[in-house]
Amino acid sequence: MNDNPIGVFDSGIGGLTVVRELLRQLPGESVVYFGDTARLPYGSKSPETVIRFALEDASFLLSRGVKLLVAACNTASSVSMPALREFSPVQVVGVIEPGAAAAAGATVSGDVGVMGTEGTIRSGAYQAALRSRTEVRSVAAVPCPLLVPLVEEGWTDHPVTETIVSEYLTPLSSAGIDTLVLGCTHYPLLKPVIARVLGPGVRLVDSAEETAAAVKAILAEDGMLSEAEHGQCSFYVSDIPMRFQEIAQRFLGRSIPLVTQVDAADFPVQAAGRGIAT
Ligand code: DGL
Repeated sequence: MNDNPIGVFDSGIGGLTVVRELLRQLPGESVVYFGDTARLPYGSKSPETVIRFALEDASFLLSRGVKLLVAACNTASSVSMPALREFSPVQVVGVIEPGAAAAAGATVSGDVGVMGTEGTIRSGAYQAALRSRTEVRSVAAVPCPLLVPLVEEGWTDHPVTETIVSEYLTPLSSAGIDTLVLGCTHYPLLKPVIARVLGPGVRLVDSAEETAAAVKAILAEDGMLSEAEHGQCSFYVSDIPMRFQEIAQRFLGRSIPLVTQVDAADFPVQAAGRGIAT
């Protein structure tokens, strides 16, 4: 048993979709969340930059004594898992493998689609994770860079969003997919629109849900589940907390009373982890 918190990081607000699932599936666990709001978006940045940011984010969380790290950001997961695992003294869970495993379990035809940020799709991480599964016959992938700002604007059920989603997903419909991985923290909020556009024949795989299930399985296996009835949550961001607090409700399903601003650069990578060179 281990009552230390689970550390979750993301480029900003989107990782709260993973926290929401963690709280639903593991109500006794405490969570420390870090949103790198000063440096988002990660989705349009180079892999080298995203890896550096991810290690700094992890470093901050490790300094809070977390027992497990979750890279809740799909873009960060898609390029930084090897560096994070080398660096971190505690287990690191990303969102790519759980999402791909769930898609492999859900598909009947074997034709799977994935949507994500430019960085996630360019990395090829989802495509490789999906192709490594025997259940998957073909993978069609599309970058959808306009969707993150639309979700942050609250236009989750707006006609403009539906038009853009429809435009982005046309190649996936043409490819005849029966399963779609929502490969970005923000897309679970677009589930109703995506489902309308693709129709009932396509299953939507939410990597937040699957990631929380993977965390639960690891903690159970390692005997590290908390014994508490209710966990505590604390939230940290690298820019002023106002906007984060304003839109957190949408992602977490409840308001956040206290958000603390920190500077990720104050937590040099060498301080908390195993001190690999970046
Ligand atoms: N959190 C990012 C992801 O899941 C989306 C936002 C960003 O580009 O930073 O890929």
